[in-house]
Amino acid sequence: MDPSICVSYVGPQYLQKEALDAFVKMHQDAKQLGLNITVYSAYRSIETQDLIWNNAIKSGRTLQDVDSSIARAGHSEHHTGLSIDVISVENSVEETEEFKWYSENAHKYGFIIRYPKGKENITGYKYEPWHLRYVGPEIAKDVYEMGITYDEYYVQVLQPQKNLQNINKTP
Ligand code: DAL
Ligand code: ZN
Repeated sequence: MDPSICVSYVGPQYLQKEALDAFVKMHQDAKQLGLNITVYSAYRSIETQDLIWNNAIKSGRTLQDVDSSIARAGHSEHHTGLSIDVISVENSVEETEEFKWYSENAHKYGFIIRYPKGKENITGYKYEPWHLRYVGPEIAKDVYEMGITYDEYYVQVLQPQKNLQNINKTP
């Protein structure tokens, strides 16, 4: 993706095309309002995720602490090319005007805050105000309006739909 939409010191970042197009649109619309929603980390390989996880362990954090904020290699949404960490995690993202804006508008572009505050026991991860996940505008709107996590949405809405489709397929 164009480096101008990334945090300056991060290397090349990649997303699936549909998610990238949606992000660029959101970035441009926010820019019109004087906001700068930049990409800090997008697609990550299994090797990169492994490095991140191991470095966190080497830094002296407990296993439980690391596992509650960093997915193990092979289990991160960042492998899908549909997830983006925005701005820089070194800043307090939640206090930015950008956060205020995208927490109310990202769903219009197809993004959800995947690991919301107070839902740690459901998502399995600590609150991550910076982590956006592309699910498409229809699902994002539903998740936003229902005020639930994607995990709950999957169990309550998507899985029953899939089951129904399978029943209908049975001869
Ligand atoms: N920080 C998120 C959970 C990940 O590592 O995929
Ligand atoms: Zn993330």
